[in-house]
Amino acid sequence: TTGDFVDRSTLNPSRPSAQIAIRGFKASCPPLSTFYFLFVVFMVSVIFHCHQRLALVPSPWASSARVVLAPKHLPQEGMFTINAIGRLGNQMGEYATLFALARMNGRPAFIPASMHSTLAPIFRISLPVLHSSTASRIPWKNYHLNDWMEERYSHIPGRYVRLTGYPCSWTFYHHLRPEILREFSLHDHVREEAQAFLRGLRINGSKPVTFVGVHVRRGDYVHVMPNVWKGVVADRGYLEKALDWFRARYSSPVFVVTSNDMSWCRKSIKPSHGDVVFAGSGQQGSPAKDFALLTQCNHTIMTVGTFGIWAAYLAGGDTIYLANFTRPNSPFHMIFKPQATFLPEWVGIAANLGLPERIGVWC
Ligand SMILES: *[C@@H]1O[C@H](CO)[C@@H](O)[C@H](O)[C@H]1NC(C)=O
Ligand SMILES: *[C@@H]1O[C@H](CO)[C@@H](O)[C@H](O)[C@H]1NC(C)=O
Ligand SMILES: *[C@@H]1O[C@H](CO)[C@@H](O)[C@H](O)[C@H]1NC(C)=O
Repeated sequence: TTGDFVDRSTLNPSRPSAQIAIRGFKASCPPLSTFYFLFVVFMVSVIFHCHQRLALVPSPWASSARVVLAPKHLPQEGMFTINAIGRLGNQMGEYATLFALARMNGRPAFIPASMHSTLAPIFRISLPVLHSSTASRIPWKNYHLNDWMEERYSHIPGRYVRLTGYPCSWTFYHHLRPEILREFSLHDHVREEAQAFLRGLRINGSKPVTFVGVHVRRGDYVHVMPNVWKGVVADRGYLEKALDWFRARYSSPVFVVTSNDMSWCRKSIKPSHGDVVFAGSGQQGSPAKDFALLTQCNHTIMTVGTFGIWAAYLAGGDTIYLANFTRPNSPFHMIFKPQATFLPEWVGIAANLGLPERIGVWC
């Protein structure tokens, strides 16, 4: 019986603590409920540790995901997945492209666990997650994507297809815009934090009605653009023109600036109108707060990078982007089509390509 099994260890006379415990129970063995309790504690700890190892719950509010653990449960008709490379904006592009191309090809889509870790703390994404140990046992066929839709992507051959590349073009998924917006809708607490910040803003003592999110991407781009892509990042002249574009069209808009180089922004954006707020964390490693702020604004000014492109796509209002920021002989033109990146209704302001010495000064 259960009693026999337990007594042998707990009644050991050389362990006084065990005897004291037993006297406390007024019986030679603890009641069955104790073992149920210990069993529950054990199971909870096993489940907790499994979750930790899966690395699927990076923060307490991450939405739970459907996880595929055993290859025998894989869909017979095959499946699509995609590489999870880059930071937030890149992974959003990869997610949305996978979402759209899997749909187009009639296959179920699964995201890598690392993509879930990046996106799920911020967004209510719904695609199921493929655990890395399962993914490693699948005979994937890699399929490279350019950063624009092509006809051949609507009939991709192979059963287990892993899409690769850095796709972030509306040409893949704009026909599914309502669904993409739903996938990237913010968790309540993330949205509420951003809304609370915006509600607290005052311009000349009154509440603004028009919020313009400004994303100034610098960091590594300051070196990568001139050195690798023969291009520039946004300078203060561009930002001045972009802010004036909104000042001319809306009464007393407020500009909510986020950046991975806030000290440059403070030096470079003139506060003379009293309508600029330097917001956001300024931390590249924790992009959720900045991203949420930008999407809760009504309009967007972006500079370079997929983070700003996604913020503008989700905010959905008027959008100003930095146009023609690489020289005509730039290798960037091989991997980047402006017309596949910026929506037709967005407004471009041409970059000041300047002279090489000038680029150094302005960036
Ligand atoms: C705030 O008030 C000052 C002084 O009246 C005015 O010059 C400025 O344009 C106002 N700013 C905005 C954003 O309305
Ligand atoms: C502008 O954004 C604010 C903050 O998210 C929102 O409350 C307001 O309804 C928006 N205005 C319009 C016209 O969409
Ligand atoms: C960018 O360059 C193209 C090609 O030269 C030109 O047609 C377009 O008007 C330019 N965009 C802006 C915003 O100046």
